Amino acid sequence: MSEDGKERTAELQYDDGALRLPVLTGSEGDEAIEVKTLLAKAGKVALDPGFVNTASCRSAITYIDGDAGILRYRGYPIQELATGSSFIEVCHLLIYGELPGPGELKEFADKLKVNAGIPEEMRTLLDAFPRNGHPMTLLGSAINTLAAYYSDSVDPSDPDQVELATIRLLAKLPTIAAHIYRNSVGEQPVEPDASLDYVENFLHMTFGQEKGQGELGSLFVKAMDLLLILHADHEQNCSTATVRVVGSSQADMYGSVTGGINALFGPLHGGANQAVLEMLEEIRQSGGDIDAFLERVKARETRLMGFGHRVYKNFDPRSKEIKGLASQILANQERPDELFELALRLESKALADSYFTERKLYPNVDFYTGVIYRAMGFPTNMFTVLFAIGRLPGWIAHWREQAADSSARIARPRQLYTGPAERAYPGHA
Ligand code: MLT
Repeated sequence: MSEDGKERTAELQYDDGALRLPVLTGSEGDEAIEVKTLLAKAGKVALDPGFVNTASCRSAITYIDGDAGILRYRGYPIQELATGSSFIEVCHLLIYGELPGPGELKEFADKLKVNAGIPEEMRTLLDAFPRNGHPMTLLGSAINTLAAYYSDSVDPSDPDQVELATIRLLAKLPTIAAHIYRNSVGEQPVEPDASLDYVENFLHMTFGQEKGQGELGSLFVKAMDLLLILHADHEQNCSTATVRVVGSSQADMYGSVTGGINALFGPLHGGANQAVLEMLEEIRQSGGDIDAFLERVKARETRLMGFGHRVYKNFDPRSKEIKGLASQILANQERPDELFELALRLESKALADSYFTERKLYPNVDFYTGVIYRAMGFPTNMFTVLFAIGRLPGWIAHWREQAADSSARIARPRQLYTGPAERAYPGHA
């Protein structure tokens, strides 16, 4: 609607006709041309591989302005949430729409503590998984089976069951992730401790008594909490879109989140934080020559991981926060971190080179996260699992928003068929 209350339209002209399509305006002034009648009225589909310019839904959760480098959850700037809120408060904000008051926060945190344990049979199942399997593969399998252990919370049309699934997923995913990690390093899993808060408890279940104590421990807890906030939602990214597509068939929340975990695992999505560390390690091992590496990137012989973003054509606002955190953590290390220093030099050389700036290639959320996780003692193959713990409230919020939307329909894209036209069947000789 325009200010005078008239419906706004855009005209689409094609060889044999024209069509008026509604122009819709979002709460931040963004505009969308609604094309859902295109097939019925004009006999044509919209072709947009990779959804580069397709809004698949209306959503009130997260706002991004990629040109200005703005990210807000439910209207609050990410920088303010990062400095003023805890991850649990941000979970509440994303899922229920508002930051919790003190009473609500306690109730929410208590529910997560009470539900942090996993059934004995599930422990046996986790112990039977291959110890050297990638933790993301194992996490996806384990989360999918939660639907079998908790069949009283799989009905998407029952609000009480949806709430139960929400709490169970948030409470149990870190416990499962820590159990998988302990198995992978040949250590006994550590039980959740209800006296600890969410992030402290995760670090406790992962590292036992080693971390979470003393000055460095509290810095790690703060760092982990901040990283989880920065990863908590990013509107219709690949894994969240996957959660929505799976959920659109009225699949349960556990199965939908499993779809998100598998999408996140890919190196072009959440797996990129692991790929950045591998890239830095490769540069280090080949003598640390950044100029030579950047020349290979320009010759398209290798990729500069952790740079560039589909949506941000400016700095990723999350990467600025993460870089500051990395400097803080690494300043507290006993020895200088070679890979962090390499990352700093690589960033400044790339940003001083017009090849990268003309292509709007700036560091993204994945560029510095790996060096922090490494300094905290996580092995490379756990990095994407940490991203999954952070992204979980976003997946849940989007799944719930869609489940509550009476206008939502099963996701069923169209295609432009490019195979053979009808031809004669050869028959049997
Ligand atoms: C994310 O946070 O999901 C990544 O930046 C990828 C994206 O938004 O497309």
